[in-house]
Amino acid sequence: MVEKQMQDEVQTPGAVFFIFGATGDLARRKLFPAIYSLYREGKLAEDFAVIGVARRPRSPEEFREDIYESIKEFCRYPAGEPDEWNAFVEHFEYKSLDINNVDGFKELREQTESLEAKFNTPGNRLFYLALAPELFGSVSYSLRDGGMLESRGWNRLVIEKPFGYDLQSAEHLNEQIREVFREEEIYRIDHYLGKEMVQNIEVIRFGNAFFEPLWNNKHIANVQITLGETVGVEERGGYYDHSGALRDMGQNHMLQMLTMIAMEPPSRLFPEDIRDEKVKVLRSLRAFTSDEEVSTNVVRGQYTEGEYRGKQLPGYRQEDKVDPESNTETYFAARVFVDNFRWAGVPFYIRTGKRLPVKTTEIVVEFKSMPSNVYLGKKYKLEPNLLVIRVNPMEGIYIKINAKKPGSDSEIQPLAMDFCQSCMIGINSPEAYERLLHDAAEGDSTYFTRWDEVATAWSFVDRIAAAWAENHGELHTYPAGTWGPEATGKLLEQDGFHWWPVNGQDEDSVVWQVNN
Ligand code: BG6
Repeated sequence: MVEKQMQDEVQTPGAVFFIFGATGDLARRKLFPAIYSLYREGKLAEDFAVIGVARRPRSPEEFREDIYESIKEFCRYPAGEPDEWNAFVEHFEYKSLDINNVDGFKELREQTESLEAKFNTPGNRLFYLALAPELFGSVSYSLRDGGMLESRGWNRLVIEKPFGYDLQSAEHLNEQIREVFREEEIYRIDHYLGKEMVQNIEVIRFGNAFFEPLWNNKHIANVQITLGETVGVEERGGYYDHSGALRDMGQNHMLQMLTMIAMEPPSRLFPEDIRDEKVKVLRSLRAFTSDEEVSTNVVRGQYTEGEYRGKQLPGYRQEDKVDPESNTETYFAARVFVDNFRWAGVPFYIRTGKRLPVKTTEIVVEFKSMPSNVYLGKKYKLEPNLLVIRVNPMEGIYIKINAKKPGSDSEIQPLAMDFCQSCMIGINSPEAYERLLHDAAEGDSTYFTRWDEVATAWSFVDRIAAAWAENHGELHTYPAGTWGPEATGKLLEQDGFHWWPVNGQDEDSVVWQVNN
């Protein structure tokens, strides 16, 4: 087993990367740029090769042109000088393939072997399926039947979300791919786990003496996780209308971030030890036992027409490929509890939505207030301390404390210590997909979701979906460009809390920039 690497200088072992869905959006926006960034940073072994696979015919020149365009538009490194660029792109080939045609896979095998001979790669093969999940099973079978798995090196399967639609379909999918690959060969992507600041949660928590001792229900009042997006469903209406915010973001990204905040420190830094701790959190989530509990603790919403920065925005039901009577949620918020000794009684509020006013992912940890009947608390209204982890697009940490107003004898004001990592010149954080591709090639599965995590998250989410399917829990609406249904605020008000403002300092705060 590979120990988790806390530094990334490690060069991946030589391998052939197969990108299934090579003409699709994910490959263009994320995967090719990730490969190029790894190459530029010297993290890819010289003996690497890439075969793009898709149904559409593409000449080698056209494919290389696609890659060039993708790097130009989406990569954090510019495409190099012609010599450099040619040296990079000569590692790429293309294969047009019908995924159910085993003969095509036999041809792919021949192509692979000659590419392996050309670059002298040791037979390691990484199959990245940037495809609809319904195809994962067929591709796995064809890889096996076409002889693609008979190599001298390792085989790894990297798959995108969504991993199923509910527990049952996820189980079915898992059974199919497990007929071909072992669990330790399967890398299930949740790209939020590849984000710099999500990975930083572990270091902030377990590397700082002034957080870990306070990280429990004695000192923490609540945790708020917000994942807001300004975009609507764009061209993905067909997929999204069957998914909705709960399945698209809740089952995976939101619950994964929650596990990182709530997990116990692992005793060792091996991927399985870390994933064991994460799955324990998921198992400790208090399951909703009735439709009423779902209605009381979960809010669902759908955006209607609205205006954002002077631009008219359509309502969800007017979006392309969306049922004009759709009841799919584009927003959800929930109050959830982790029933273990560390967290008993601490609410975790999670919310996510499309067409909110701000694109932001933030985690706010609100500490318990100082006693109000002694010393300063008697005289002043002291704000609770906050630790805010800014995940995306701004990366950083923000801490809010109370301090004396300079020059005044009798005023106390909240003070914010704001460390903005993404504002620092010279910091060019790797994209999530770079880290994840690198980790998969390294054999480090820490930031991929293990089957038991996926299954446990689905059973939690399925209970909510089942109540909604029975029409329990009102479908609230919110105008596009606003912060979601009002009912979301009430979830917290009932407990004496409120959502803290995200993505920007509190207006009353004095900001002390740690970095200039
Ligand atoms: C994806 C969802 O997993 O994450 C999308 O399917 C969503 O609906 C996206 O827009 C958000 O990712 P990021 O990294 O842009 O916050």
